[in-house]
Amino acid sequence: MQIKIAPSILSADFSAMGNAVGLCERSGADLIHCDVMDGSFVEPITFGGQMVKNIRPLTRLPLDCHLMTEHPKTQVGFFVDGGADIISVHYKACAKISESYLEETLDLIKSRGIKSGAAVNPDVPVEKVLPLADKFDMLLIMSVFPGYGGQKFIESALQKIEKARSFFLARGLERDIEVDGGITEENAKRVIEAGANVLVAGSAFFRSADPAKTVEKLRG
Ligand code: DX5
Ligand code: ZN
Repeated sequence: MQIKIAPSILSADFSAMGNAVGLCERSGADLIHCDVMDGSFVEPITFGGQMVKNIRPLTRLPLDCHLMTEHPKTQVGFFVDGGADIISVHYKACAKISESYLEETLDLIKSRGIKSGAAVNPDVPVEKVLPLADKFDMLLIMSVFPGYGGQKFIESALQKIEKARSFFLARGLERDIEVDGGITEENAKRVIEAGANVLVAGSAFFRSADPAKTVEKLRG
């Protein structure tokens, strides 16, 4: 599977987002990871669909929107209209509302013609979302508790990646497995070997002295 690198603009300078997007593109990134935080599902607040709309004309790269929000279904329209290519929503935020809310949200995303993703926090077993594999294109495995960039990679994410990749392979399902949080040039290889093919990099990319080289190194 093609390994894709997704810099997270959470670690960029919000007053110069156009430059950050340009840097991602020039550095050979494959996706732009947009971390949407609502101040409730996670403590900080970042940005909403308007940011996606504003950066959309600045890049050809797919916009990978990671919604760390309560009631994600109500947000889908804003992000699709803004030009999102992938929208991922959290199992935990959905399970709080109802048993069918995750499935309904994934269906809504797909019905708008873009890719859907299901996200699991470090304390959510991957088995919670695998039964919905035909409703999502991407499984997002968090390797930190969401909310902040620059945290340390949680090793138990590796077993979850392995479990999920075996599940997909056994069923002939081609699914992206994205891993998000604490990815570095040092641990990227292990993450890829475990079966992930989309690597989010916030601080590793934006704090790098040579982001293009970092992208190459992360890709392995
Ligand atoms: C965490 C976000 C991540 C974060 C990753 O809540 O979902 O995407 O930006 O940042 P690093 O790579 O610095 O851990
Ligand atoms: Zn993220």
